[in-house]
Amino acid sequence: MQVQTFPSYDDLSRHTAEHIADMVRQKPTATLCLASGETPISTFHHLVTLAQSGQVDFSRCTFIGLDEWIGFGPEDEGSCAYYLYRDLFGPLSIRPEQIHYFNAKSIDLPAECLRIDAAIAECGGLDLILVGIGMNGHIALNEPGTSFNLYAHVSDLAEVTVQVGQKYFTQATPLSKGITLGLRHLMEAREVILMASGSRKAAVIRHALQGPVTEELPASIIQQHPNAHVWLDAEAGSQI
Ligand code: PGA
Repeated sequence: MQVQTFPSYDDLSRHTAEHIADMVRQKPTATLCLASGETPISTFHHLVTLAQSGQVDFSRCTFIGLDEWIGFGPEDEGSCAYYLYRDLFGPLSIRPEQIHYFNAKSIDLPAECLRIDAAIAECGGLDLILVGIGMNGHIALNEPGTSFNLYAHVSDLAEVTVQVGQKYFTQATPLSKGITLGLRHLMEAREVILMASGSRKAAVIRHALQGPVTEELPASIIQQHPNAHVWLDAEAGSQI
């Protein structure tokens, strides 16, 4: 695990975007799983700028969805897919056949999990997974107490995730379950980037990087990944 702290959120975002662009230049058919959420938004903007100025081409990449609120889809403001389409897939003109995303409105959610697991296997595994970290140390919607051995699954959301998740919606929205890649996907990905920004993440970053590796703090698993980068802005890195 390599840990690096950048002076500002913009430095962090530029570095992450440049790294992803480099990777895609080296492997134009890369399979990427990129988190939604607040943290990567500026990285996505930089990626779009790089692509629109011809410095990188995502047209042969495959994109795998990381997670979604059950009952929500790309057309619903506040969903994970909504932000990915708005900030990344739309501006990059990613074609539908390049995207494998959970249908979190499906009446057969276990089948959705198997479908996404199979899509990842068919691509030969994830070349890169970019994740954030929740206030409770969750990764994607793998909440504290989730087995490290799961592939895609349906999860019960932690109370803090339901509360913090309200920031993505314009009005109070009941959330209770999520559908998510598992930590086994993270561990099998050829490269992991965990990004965190802001002082509110400083304590959980310290626990995840310097505390014991435990299912009670899902992000702590990153200590065991052979090719993981933890990239922080100065505030998120202020306690390590
Ligand atoms: P955030 O979400 O980037 O909006 O802080 C991170 C997460 O909950 O994984």
